[in-house]
Amino acid sequence: MRTSSAPTSTMASSVAVHRLHARGRGNLFKCLKNVDSFLRRTVGTVAVPARNEPPRKEETEGGRLSFYAVQAQRQEQAERSVLIGCTPTINEKKIIKFLSRHGNIKKYFTYESYGTYAVVEFASQESVASLLEGAGIPNNGHESMVPYKSRLMSLKSLGAAELRSQPSSQDNHLQTTIPINKLMQMLCLEESIDQQIIRLTEVSQLTEENSHLRFLVCSLLKDIAAAYFPECSIQPFGSSVNGFGKLGCDLDMFLDLDNISGRNLKTPKSALTLEYQMKRADSERTVTQSILSVIGKCLDQFVPGCVGVQKILNARCPLVRFSHQPSGFQCDLTANNRVAIKSSELLYLYGQLDPRVRQLVFSIRFWARAHGVTSNIPGACITNFSLTVMVLFFLQQRSPAVIPTLNHLQELAGPADRSVIEGNDCTFVSDVEKIQLQNNTETLEQLLSEFFEFYATFAFSKKSINIRKGKEQNKPEATPLHIQNPFESALNVSKNVNGSQLERFVALCQESSWLLQQRDTHVPKGAGTSAHWGLATLFLPSSIAKVKNRKKRKAEPASERIKSLLESLKAVNQPKN
Ligand code: GTP
Ligand code: MG
Repeated sequence: MRTSSAPTSTMASSVAVHRLHARGRGNLFKCLKNVDSFLRRTVGTVAVPARNEPPRKEETEGGRLSFYAVQAQRQEQAERSVLIGCTPTINEKKIIKFLSRHGNIKKYFTYESYGTYAVVEFASQESVASLLEGAGIPNNGHESMVPYKSRLMSLKSLGAAELRSQPSSQDNHLQTTIPINKLMQMLCLEESIDQQIIRLTEVSQLTEENSHLRFLVCSLLKDIAAAYFPECSIQPFGSSVNGFGKLGCDLDMFLDLDNISGRNLKTPKSALTLEYQMKRADSERTVTQSILSVIGKCLDQFVPGCVGVQKILNARCPLVRFSHQPSGFQCDLTANNRVAIKSSELLYLYGQLDPRVRQLVFSIRFWARAHGVTSNIPGACITNFSLTVMVLFFLQQRSPAVIPTLNHLQELAGPADRSVIEGNDCTFVSDVEKIQLQNNTETLEQLLSEFFEFYATFAFSKKSINIRKGKEQNKPEATPLHIQNPFESALNVSKNVNGSQLERFVALCQESSWLLQQRDTHVPKGAGTSAHWGLATLFLPSSIAKVKNRKKRKAEPASERIKSLLESLKAVNQPKN
């Protein structure tokens, strides 16, 4: 992915460009000259993965931005953006120069996904309107077309040799994580396990550009839903926004119809009131199902770029699943799923409290994926959401605790934070600045090692994980793994996990705990060797997880038990003479 932005110094000239443009066509030449100098400064900078974080404290007036403030900023940015498919041979500078006729371009970047695409952010929505007005309908001979217009467009070169004179940049990146082998090589060049964990987070987290694209896709889809429900919004949730998303993660979206004006209108004192006539349905669920069904059909039949649309309407949470080809995102669209937004906000808040939270979650999620503990395919595996809650719970158990309990976050909440969704109290403080942390100074390496030890010996058969209380509880039901849903206390978020998946998880925790206790694991092997060390060792294929029917020995301390268990397993695996 390549990116260009207008930093403060270049903004002045680009604002000037916009003003000149507004004065009329007579000044177009001057305007283009300025655009060109703007481009000279910005085109050609390769995207550096940016932390998906809100602006720093000093960049905002009242401290760090809340989850909702970040969401609102990104949504507004998405409304001013367009997605343009380009012929790869068209020169980037020419594209931007061409589009700048419609107004000041604040930022743009290109990427590859079934072709070359550019995300272009204009400074104002009027520029987008002007761009749409200037676009034509494709003429594909005898083919019939659905005349649906949107901010997803194509830029075609009409054979002008000049446009093709310079090849497009070779620096375009796919928006996926780097291959595991390359990542492991990269990690082995670091000097400590802590640095490896930090590096892993830096290279796999969502970039600024990827987040921008995610919100843009939501905004494009909102335009479709708005044809039926003009005041709706589509919000991303889950790992796209909770701070724990890695490049390539799916895009979970929520069609929000709750903010439609008139819902909470107080009855006026006069004798007459006016109401909209509305169709009645059996239940909220029926409404959700029928709305998603219609939108799913629309996506399938009218909307370019949406392929493989599946309507999964009988699930506990009905959804429409599809691929959005221009962005490369696998999308899940839900409606009436407000608790999930609250869960995303909670995870985001925990991630903001201490950098070690995100860094540890990224490493453990990566480790789990490498060993098939988590999977993209729904089934009996532990989900990333459950795993993240397990990491949070572990961090609450440290002494002193790294993060507070959800009950404590609820105590700190102000009146504006109050939130009750379908009878569930989802209230917790939204202002990070109000949260006082205890002074835990453990290193990432210590925490990682302790995480494995903690779950290698956790009493899963009797205990439930509960981040609301920050204490293990007696299990209310007989499922192998019980993780209480933070906001719907009667629900178990890991109900799907079967005994053998949990057993594999525990065995892998035992193995990784043991590996981290080996002195050899901690010795950097240096550049030029293919030997892995530190974090990378934990991602190597495991032998232990394949072995079943292990005997549990409870008398020795955990580390001793793990060591002897591994040694006995190794002996079992030795070929017999
Ligand atoms: P990825 O695997 O990277 O997509 O992580 P994710 O956090 O986005 O998980 P997923 O796409 O499976 O789910 C999206 C969001 O839905 C999660 O972040 C949670 O907010 C919510 N969610 C997922 N599973 C459950 C569950 O079992 N119970 C509840 N209450 N919410 C869930
Ligand atoms: Mg997801």
